[in-house]
Amino acid sequence: MLSTKQNYSSNPLLIEAANNAVKKRIEREKGDAALMAQRAGILPDSWQSDLLRSDARQMILLCSRQSGKSTVSAILGLHTALFKENSLVLLLSPSLRQSQELFKKLKDFFAAIECAALPKVSEESALRLEFNNGSRVIALPGSETTIRGYSAVSLLIIDEASIVEDSLFFAVKPMLAVSGGRIILLSTPRGKRGFFHDVWTSGGADWNRTCITARECPRISEQWLLKEKESMPSFWFKQEFECEFVETMDSVFSYDDIHAAIDPSVKPLVFL
Ligand SMILES: Nc1ncnc2c1ncn2[C@@H]1O[C@H](COP(=O)(O)OP(=O)(O)OP(=O)(O)O)[C@@H](O)[C@H]1O
Ligand SMILES: [Mg+2]
Repeated sequence: MLSTKQNYSSNPLLIEAANNAVKKRIEREKGDAALMAQRAGILPDSWQSDLLRSDARQMILLCSRQSGKSTVSAILGLHTALFKENSLVLLLSPSLRQSQELFKKLKDFFAAIECAALPKVSEESALRLEFNNGSRVIALPGSETTIRGYSAVSLLIIDEASIVEDSLFFAVKPMLAVSGGRIILLSTPRGKRGFFHDVWTSGGADWNRTCITARECPRISEQWLLKEKESMPSFWFKQEFECEFVETMDSVFSYDDIHAAIDPSVKPLVFL
């Protein structure tokens, strides 16, 4: 007598039904990246689900350490590559090592959900993943020269954005305008300076903003946070866990004082 498993694997009707169920599920995941995340082993927090379901073109995540910002961005990058044919997903960070960390997350999620109904990997290297639907995912170091060669970018993810050079951001922005691609900036804050701070505070309504402090993350306990608070300077805790743009250590004058001292009615003495 056949075991139940053998019965399933040899019954064409059951095989067809199972294949159809998988196809239906993948079709639903195509329209809902949060559903795909679940199959990859991540039950998204509500802010992560919102982000995965958003169709905003420009997104900025100001989040505590360990809140899950790289995870949600990796899921979104993978979803784009799998379901948008011929897409180009670029992963950028201040260093190649950090971009590779994000790249590894994305690859691990793909390994977890890989199935016959999804595109297959056609080429793979330490910094690049290509699928047979024509999509590519590429990990890059955060320097302007490395990104200049790419066009038609579908999704640009800039991890640890508060410590990425401003010149990089200004080099990529026009490129995205031409391709109509999406951008996600994700970071903990690092002082009241740089493009990440400027986009967050004065980037305008075109940016979809998400702020998640450590206390809003269900995986970070209050007890652990209290211990961390005791172990570090208060400005550092505010920056790492409470999403505050605190003054940089080397600031002589505070950002707020400088802004308060500016009188828009006074004409500059020197014109450059
Ligand atoms: N929704 C979730 N459910 C379960 N685990 C999660 C979820 N989101 C993230 N994690 C886990 O939380 C940890 C931190 O996630 P992640 O590395 O994405 O955070 P991060 O905000 O990028 O951290 P860092 O500031 O250190 O870069 C990882 O182990 C990740 O797998
Ligand atoms: Mg991270």
